[in-house]
Amino acid sequence: MIFLKSGPELKAMDRANRLVHRVLSAVREAALPGVTTAELDHLAETLISEDGAQPAFKGYRGYPATLCTSVNDEIVHGIPSPTVRLAEGDVLSVDCGTIVDGFYGDAAVTFAIGEVNGEARRLIDVTRACLEDAVDQIVPGARLGDIGAAVQQRAEAAGFGVVREFVGHGVGRALHEDPQVPNYGEAGKGLQLRPGLVLAIEPMITVGSWRVRVDRDGWTARTEDGTLAAHFEYSVAVTPDGHRVLGVEE
Ligand code: MF3
Ligand code: CO
Repeated sequence: MIFLKSGPELKAMDRANRLVHRVLSAVREAALPGVTTAELDHLAETLISEDGAQPAFKGYRGYPATLCTSVNDEIVHGIPSPTVRLAEGDVLSVDCGTIVDGFYGDAAVTFAIGEVNGEARRLIDVTRACLEDAVDQIVPGARLGDIGAAVQQRAEAAGFGVVREFVGHGVGRALHEDPQVPNYGEAGKGLQLRPGLVLAIEPMITVGSWRVRVDRDGWTARTEDGTLAAHFEYSVAVTPDGHRVLGVEE
């Protein structure tokens, strides 16, 4: 079941995502070598509650934290921990969700802790470009396959892998709504986009194998071969004349 959002509903989603992006910026500034991922989670939770909003992930299917903090070979859903201390050269993916007036915001970024090697830098840059290429596809009448094909094209041209096991999704009054949004596929195929549809686009890209292993904690998803992964996410509304990235000033 697909829910198209009205103007006032998109305004609430804009607010939810604006808070998410504010949190992600603050976390990025705080993420210095020596800081633990639990400290970043505490910062995020404080900012969200000071805003009178709620963290979206905490309690979702039993997930225990406000952020997902995925380090190096961790792709997504890394659980913040007082024993995970960031070090110069790490690649950190941070995913954050909020609920504002009943609507969800959902976005993620990946960045370097201090200086990283050239391959890590390239992975981060290509994954961000995958997200931007995907967002550029979003206009009324375009199809879901156009989004996946754009991500896959950019990632594979760079020699990187596209994670299949996790996908983007519709978002609104629930964190995960229909449709699923794969990061691979064929242009011209699949559901046609319509104004009012809101999609969380979230490419997950790997240096090596795109195959995933989930830790015994039931959450932390890492690359099977131990190579680096990166993840960026925007919540994007289809508008009559194209799209709007929610929570981000143009
Ligand atoms: N952005 C991710 C998603 O949309 C984050 C979910 S974390 C969870 O699937 F804990 F809420 F599952
Ligand atoms: Co998401």
